[in-house]
Amino acid sequence: MAINTKTTGNNNNDIALSQESLIKFYKTVREFSHTLAEPLEIEDYIVQSMPDVSPTKWHLAHTSWFFETFVLSKAIQVYKSPNPQYAYLFNSYYVQAGERHLRPKRGLISRPTVEETYRYRNHVDESMLQFMENANDKEWREFSSVIEIGIHHEQQHQELIVTDIKHVLSENPLNPEYINNQNKGRSSHKPEDIEWISFEGGVCNIGNEGEGFGYDNEYPLHKVYLNPYKLGSRLVTNAEYMEFINDRGYETPEIWLSEGWATVETNNWKAPLYWQQSGGEWMQFTLAGLRKVEPNEPLTHVSYFEADAYARWAGSRLPTEAEWEVAAESVQIEGNFVDNMNFHPAPLEKSNGLPLKQMFGDVWEWTQSSYSAYPGYKIPPGALGEYNGKFMCNQMVLRGGSCATSKSHIRKTYRNFFPTNARWQFMGIRLAKDGD
Ligand SMILES: [Fe+2]
Repeated sequence: MAINTKTTGNNNNDIALSQESLIKFYKTVREFSHTLAEPLEIEDYIVQSMPDVSPTKWHLAHTSWFFETFVLSKAIQVYKSPNPQYAYLFNSYYVQAGERHLRPKRGLISRPTVEETYRYRNHVDESMLQFMENANDKEWREFSSVIEIGIHHEQQHQELIVTDIKHVLSENPLNPEYINNQNKGRSSHKPEDIEWISFEGGVCNIGNEGEGFGYDNEYPLHKVYLNPYKLGSRLVTNAEYMEFINDRGYETPEIWLSEGWATVETNNWKAPLYWQQSGGEWMQFTLAGLRKVEPNEPLTHVSYFEADAYARWAGSRLPTEAEWEVAAESVQIEGNFVDNMNFHPAPLEKSNGLPLKQMFGDVWEWTQSSYSAYPGYKIPPGALGEYNGKFMCNQMVLRGGSCATSKSHIRKTYRNFFPTNARWQFMGIRLAKDGD
């Protein structure tokens, strides 16, 4: 099936948020962090199960530190932090913002307590709301865009709260539940076979046009040349990935990248993260505890290496990020986001009548594109320039958001990025092929 593609970049946000709507956005997002933490026991807040994972308490504090550092301490001369040492404890990687605590040691910090951390959040919220509600034109011009970044930054950390707590709980042999929603969003409906959707390619524009919010790494809008290509109509399912496993996919070095094969051997990978065999059946740890792998759900928790090897085994390849973005032109931003509170990818129920399905939500889709600067990209000045630009090395781009992403956070131009061996995010596979 061939569909026409527009040749412009895209963005789903409205133009420049007003003072009133930014305050509302701030309140909603800050409150949602508390909603996500609500099912946790106090002991869950502290654990760091691997260096990539941060404790929930740290996420709650760090997102407040962001507003304190980049807004309050600059905008309000008399602003006083509840504890000036939080600037050291809760700085993540901003070298220009000063010295910071070591990332792998975040799980060793039992103080401030969880209660003190919530008091810190309240203090920041009161100060932020007072500032936002009383800001004059000059102050608003200077700080509104930073506040907007801070809100989107908190949404990114909300996704990490979900994926990090999943990793934390998965380390516990009791298989604790984060939420009791075992059957929510589950279905035994077998999706239709993958259909190959054709795109003409040619000279296309990708990148953010500048209407509404976007991170610096989505700019500038620029031209790319694409050969004709095809995208799989839906995500790869667990059932399809089981065929790969049963066909000795994890034991066939010739389908793996060299570094991927070394990673498989070193880590003894035999299945996606969170999968385990029990009584001859594949089980997977989910945020609703341990349950049978549902064949019709989208596959998740695979690395770039596994996605790449699977695609090769399946006689196809992964899409480039430009192919993905141009194809997304024809799709509405709808899907299984964290707003649904499923906390798990959902099977494709029935056709929505559109050729491309599951482009947004469920799982981030690995692309074969290295995370690097778009032509003309400039790292913004100051500490906030460290947000994205300094990570443009040794990582691959993922597109489309996941079941842990907020709908108001994702865009067609959004570029997520992770190292090739990362698996703890909700990461999955959409296949691509060269066109005719
Ligand atoms: Fe951060």
